[in-house]
Amino acid sequence: MDMIIKPIKTLEAIVSVPGDKSISHRSVIIGGIASGITDIENFLPGQDCLSTVQCMRQLGIEVKELSSTHLQVIGKGPAGLSEPDNILDAGNSGTTIRLLSGLLAGQDFLTILTGDASIRRRPMARVADPLRQMGAQVWGRGKGRYAPLAIRGGHLKNISYNTPIASAQIKSAILLAGMYTDGETAVTEPAFSRDHTEKMLQAFGANIQTNGLTTMIKASSLVAQQVIVPSDISSAAFFLVAGAIIPGSRVTVTRVGLNPTRTGILDVLGEMGAKISIANEYESSGELMGDITIEGQGLKAVEIAGNLIPRLIDEIPVLAVAAAAAEGKTIIRDAAELKVKESNRLRAITVELTRFGADIQETEDGLIINGRRNYSGAVCQSYHDHRIAMACALMGLLAADQTIVQGSECIDISFPGFQDTLNNLYR
Ligand code: S3P
Repeated sequence: MDMIIKPIKTLEAIVSVPGDKSISHRSVIIGGIASGITDIENFLPGQDCLSTVQCMRQLGIEVKELSSTHLQVIGKGPAGLSEPDNILDAGNSGTTIRLLSGLLAGQDFLTILTGDASIRRRPMARVADPLRQMGAQVWGRGKGRYAPLAIRGGHLKNISYNTPIASAQIKSAILLAGMYTDGETAVTEPAFSRDHTEKMLQAFGANIQTNGLTTMIKASSLVAQQVIVPSDISSAAFFLVAGAIIPGSRVTVTRVGLNPTRTGILDVLGEMGAKISIANEYESSGELMGDITIEGQGLKAVEIAGNLIPRLIDEIPVLAVAAAAAEGKTIIRDAAELKVKESNRLRAITVELTRFGADIQETEDGLIINGRRNYSGAVCQSYHDHRIAMACALMGLLAADQTIVQGSECIDISFPGFQDTLNNLYR
């Protein structure tokens, strides 16, 4: 599907964006192994989270859809899952396949997990290896490194695992598997990745503790909760950057998740010179949320690297657009993980922003972007990657003439209704 974007002069808007993708996945998975009914409000009805719902249903968990964003998961406790009678399909979702791998490692039955072409290219050894160390049998293509994965789990042994990559998907898979051991399972990361699994498990009553970069979990019984999912800061990012790069703009995005492991984008936009304020803060299931207001006033270049990267890992395509509109040379380093996301995002954003006339260069582990003032419209590809499609759309707002984003239907993965939200900005 082609999405047509017209340039915009200035922006004055209050925007709401859908629920957080990471927290939505976790609410269904953790709700499924808790006892009782977990009520989930502001669930993200994007394709990725619907894949998780479908997989959990195939594992014997009833999920009621009171509306597309209001679900109830009828939990059966940690031992309540049953062997699915068919393959589980994670679609495009890395969180689905990796978190479920951890959960299934603790189940004494066989499951086969697959996904779309992108998922079948993405590395799975990072999760399969520690699960094998815990005693699960995990098979996969390419000597066990790629999906489809076949998992035969059971009673596991606890491990202390040092993960070489700061990845919440790896950490979460091990913590979920840790629920099925007799001892204490520990995961240590090289830097903080998002901690939604830890926060939600804690809210559900798990025996889980964090000490610096190490998280420890013991088998626990979980009690169903009411979860109010914050709106997704990774989706809000597109409108925050829109407000920041279009001078004279003022954009508020309401009840956005403000978990500090996710707010790297706010730190960077602030450092680039955007004026940001937060109001109406409140907390649900350990997750902070609030209204973010941003005012555009001419950005300047920054360096983005090190421990900041996991705190904005999904926002690098949109930050590349901010950098293209900023004065000076922005350097992004330590971001090689972007090569193994839904697409090779370093390559994709370089090729696509170049079509607008951007001065952007891909490096080994990042990007170098020299900001400019004037851009022409372009015809862009999405690479079937939602965040690339939305980053191109955003660049289109800034361009002098019309932009077309081809293959834009992938945006439904994380942001159903993106085009309507964007169209409302012109009123
Ligand atoms: C996610 C973790 C991140 C992120 C992804 C969602 C999660 O991946 O990029 O979009 O929900 O745990 P990694 O853990 O591989 O960095």
